[in-house]
Amino acid sequence: RPRVLSGIQPTSGSFHLGNYLGAVRQWVAQQDTHDAFYMVVDLHALTVVQDPEALRADSRVAAAQLLAAGLDPERCTVFIQSHVPEHAQLGWVLNCLTGFGEASRMTQFKDKSVKQGTDRTTVGLFTYPVLMAADILLYQSDAVPVGGDQRQHLELTRVLAERFNGRYGETFKVPDAFIVPETARITDLQDPALKMSKSSSTPKGIVNLLDEPKVSAKKIKSAVTDTDTVIRYDEENKPGVSNLLTIYAALTGATVADLEQRYEGKGYGALKTDLAEVYTEWATPFRDRTREYLDDPETLDSILAKGAEKARAVAAETLARVYERVGFLPAK
Ligand code: TYM
Repeated sequence: RPRVLSGIQPTSGSFHLGNYLGAVRQWVAQQDTHDAFYMVVDLHALTVVQDPEALRADSRVAAAQLLAAGLDPERCTVFIQSHVPEHAQLGWVLNCLTGFGEASRMTQFKDKSVKQGTDRTTVGLFTYPVLMAADILLYQSDAVPVGGDQRQHLELTRVLAERFNGRYGETFKVPDAFIVPETARITDLQDPALKMSKSSSTPKGIVNLLDEPKVSAKKIKSAVTDTDTVIRYDEENKPGVSNLLTIYAALTGATVADLEQRYEGKGYGALKTDLAEVYTEWATPFRDRTREYLDDPETLDSILAKGAEKARAVAAETLARVYERVGFLPAK
């Protein structure tokens, strides 16, 4: 079986609809076709200031959501990044293989550092994509299911894998990004030119999966569309409607063409009302299942402990080869 690995940040508790449709939904599907590793990336979360108690709580909330979304610890490995120290260890080795200019060109870093100012931007944020490369390469992953915003980081991962292999001999598998084009970029409900994002969306623009479904339904019903009336997929001229059609199709399994036909001659109001209902039907049991996992932290923690053990077995093997290749003296 080919292997997949992916990760999600625990920041701010609830995942949003872009996280789910762009990434987590694919993770659920791939646990049956792949040897799958999925993690909550708490090391990455630390690149911006976190309250310690909140980070701890959010990491559990993130893991609970992954299970509630359908990840089954019997069929895949779910773990917390910091439980596997090899991530930070390989991260260091790869830092020493990455050019300063190369890291400076990562657009997510550039965006965030401009927004925060260089004094508030940490070196951790700068090397964030290198740690992500370590995450992926440790598991000899074939594919990495992510949203479109991670494409550049995957490109860097491939470059670093090839560089290491070229310098020290074949060590890492060179992974492919797995990006589903339809759901690669779920946009903000209030500004369809922007992606839906924890850090930049306004409260009305983002659908948080753990919010009261009523709250999210209201946001969907007041999503920004356009002054036309025809329900048609057209990213350029009708980005708001196109986003709603994408979400609708992804949540129901209908095709966008089906939906265009179903809503022929109907108004945006009907589309939004129905989508709000479809979303509510999906989100209600999702929230309930998340709460059940959170109400039983012992079970949750034991799932995560088993996951970390399975992950570590793979990670330790890769790291040992890396340490040997780069010339570290073995500890006897
Ligand atoms: P994060 O936590 O920002 O997002 C988790 C996943 O959600 C996807 N995503 C979206 N997809 C579609 N539309 C959107 N609006 C949208 N917003 C977010 C992201 O692309 C991502 O797949 N760097 C990663 C975490 C990470 C990782 C890894 C991923 C760390 N190590 C190793 C893969 C492999 C991140 O910050 O994701």
